[in-house]
Amino acid sequence: MDLRLKDDVVLVTGASKGIGLAVVDAFAREGAHVVAGSRSTTAELEGLTDAYGVTAVTVDLSTAEGPNRLVRHAVERYGRLNVLINSLGAATPRPGFLDVDDAEWQRIFDLTLFSAVRASRAALPHLLGAGRGVIVNIGSINARLPHPRVVDYSAAKAALNSVTKSLSEEFAPRGIRVNAIAPGPVRTPFWTAPGGFAEAAAAEAGITAQEAMDVVVPQSMGISTGRVTEPHEVADLALFLASPLAGNITGAEFTIDGGQVKTL
Ligand SMILES: NC(=O)c1ccc[n+]([C@@H]2O[C@H](COP(=O)([O-])OP(=O)(O)OC[C@H]3O[C@@H](n4cnc5c(N)ncnc54)[C@H](OP(=O)(O)O)[C@@H]3O)[C@@H](O)[C@H]2O)c1
Repeated sequence: MDLRLKDDVVLVTGASKGIGLAVVDAFAREGAHVVAGSRSTTAELEGLTDAYGVTAVTVDLSTAEGPNRLVRHAVERYGRLNVLINSLGAATPRPGFLDVDDAEWQRIFDLTLFSAVRASRAALPHLLGAGRGVIVNIGSINARLPHPRVVDYSAAKAALNSVTKSLSEEFAPRGIRVNAIAPGPVRTPFWTAPGGFAEAAAAEAGITAQEAMDVVVPQSMGISTGRVTEPHEVADLALFLASPLAGNITGAEFTIDGGQVKTL
């Protein structure tokens, strides 16, 4: 299937690992010009630079100026922008609400909500200038299924859904589509990095982090398919939403969670 993304200029935040990296890979394979923003680079991202000419930009997107700088970089390099994928987001496992102070609330909101708000604000004039444009926000099922261990993250993702809907309403008449993807657990460093959620689940169950990802997480979270999502599966959904094939889809949230959320 031709997704008609060839030569589109695509900006991806949080792009050196996990879902962001898979999104960069997927768009690059479609022949898009991809600009990838993260604080550091990885061997995998460098491989995509070598293979497909992906532009990797080192930038802290949790700052007020970071998203502006990333958008400027893309526009200076290619003279236009067609697609923005806001993949950056972060959570820290918490004992509970009383353990999250103001600074931590602010940090999680800067990473998970304000990075997307700022990137969208900087990108929209260029998307509008191109005559059509797409924003895909990587949200989370925690927006609608808040969890006390990630109380701040859940709230930030709920706010991101709200912004997704507002932007879709305001800019649809001018050719811009804005949608959200809500993943359940995805096999990325978010879970698998040292100190991440897989280690925490493994410690509680007295097993390895790998066993936690493969067995305990799907079982304990009620994932109907019996497995977590792979990053490339989220990237494939982002590709479709960015494609003209999804030309009348806007203001929508797409869950990809193996059936974990039991309501429609
Ligand atoms: N994995 C899941 O189970 C899951 C489930 C639901 C939703 N999500 C959402 O999916 C999105 C991607 O998650 P993921 O699992 O792929 O995350 P991840 O594996 O933790 O990767 C995060 C990416 O963001 C970059 N990053 C972190 N802080 C940054 C900063 N200040 N400035 C710029 N880049 C920064 C990281 O690279 P550097 O460290 O090099 O900066 C990395 O490339 C997030 O919005 C997350 O909330 C994930």
